[in-house]
Amino acid sequence: MEKVSVKVCLGTTCFVMGGANLQELIDIIPRKYGDKVEVSGSQCLGMCSIKWNYSKAPYVKVDDDIIEEATVEKVLDAVSKKLGQN
Ligand code: FES
Repeated sequence: MEKVSVKVCLGTTCFVMGGANLQELIDIIPRKYGDKVEVSGSQCLGMCSIKWNYSKAPYVKVDDDIIEEATVEKVLDAVSKKLGQN
C-alpha cells in the first residue's frame, strides 16, 4: 500500500497564520499511523502567494490535496479518509 504523504507548510505566512500549532502533527502522525503515513515539514507550498488576498493559510498538503485553514483535526481527518478509516 502506498504511503500517504503529509507536508506541513512551515513557511512564514502559514507559520504566522497558525501553522506553528501544526508542528504537533510531526509527532502525532507517526504515533497514530506508524509507517503508513510520511509526514514532514515543508517550505512555502506556494499557495499563500497565489491566494494572497484571501489567504486561507495555514496550508497542509495531504497527497495531492491542499487543506486550507488547516488544523490538527482537519489533517487527521483527511489522513484517516485516505487510509479508509473514519
Ligand atoms: S507559507 Fe505556506 S503556502 Fe506559503
